[in-house]
Amino acid sequence: ERSLLGLKDLDKEEIESILERAAYWEKHPVKVHGGQQGKFAANMFFENSTRTRFSFEVAEKRLGAEVINFSAAASSVEKGESIYDTVRTLESMGIDVGVIRLKPAGLLAELAEKIKVPLVNAGDGNNEHPTQALLDMYTMRKQFGSLRGLNVSIVGDILHSRVARSNLYALRKFGANVSFCAPDNMQAKELDAPYISMDEALKADVVMMLRVQLERHESGMLNSAEAYREQYGLTVERAQRIAPHAIIMHPAPVNRDVEIDGVLVEHPQSRIFPQMENGVPIRMAVIERALS
Ligand code: CP
Repeated sequence: ERSLLGLKDLDKEEIESILERAAYWEKHPVKVHGGQQGKFAANMFFENSTRTRFSFEVAEKRLGAEVINFSAAASSVEKGESIYDTVRTLESMGIDVGVIRLKPAGLLAELAEKIKVPLVNAGDGNNEHPTQALLDMYTMRKQFGSLRGLNVSIVGDILHSRVARSNLYALRKFGANVSFCAPDNMQAKELDAPYISMDEALKADVVMMLRVQLERHESGMLNSAEAYREQYGLTVERAQRIAPHAIIMHPAPVNRDVEIDGVLVEHPQSRIFPQMENGVPIRMAVIERALS
């Protein structure tokens, strides 16, 4: 299986081999390797993205693949063409891998049954964001060496978060302890993880803040950004309480001064930009796996 639809059903060994291959690419910073020359990668984004879209593109180009970028806003999707017909169209043109981000959860699994080329999930609704969790795990391993026994607090809009889900599924396989912290109306009750207070969350080795996903909220869910920051934001005052060895993470984009104070984004204990940097070798490993 060369697709990467999620981490929930991916073996620990497969995850391990992606992380190891990413480490190889990080140690071989040759700008363009060229091992996948003559292959075509299509990046199909039916939902906005900066980090994921561009780091897939950098990864594909570093591997020497030809890159086709599809953005829904400039396509026949605007005329009502379905996601299936769009992906099938690109497949019929001879692409070798399709990287897809879309809104409806569950659609990617259906597509993967009908489409023959490998598909890579770049985020599907609130279901999974496997390459984000892989780069998160990679970042944690670089910091701590091992994930076993690591205490990871994921704080914020768990309900709408594919990042929280992929991290929960994968970190557990490696023996990390994952806890969530969220207001009642942002909790995902179906996920099997403990909810802890903000004070408890600050005691973890990794404090991962999530973006409040305003675009996915029904009106009225977030009464006030200020009140949210007060109760669940990583403020400068709260950051002083995290352990000296602990790190701050956030998948970004960041709502500065809502879930995290702006001055903390580049705090010495923050790994927010290193996370983005690690996204490139991770996506090289994932694209290489899909193409080979
Ligand atoms: N972290 C992440 O997925 O960012 P983008 O939405 O910008 O790709």
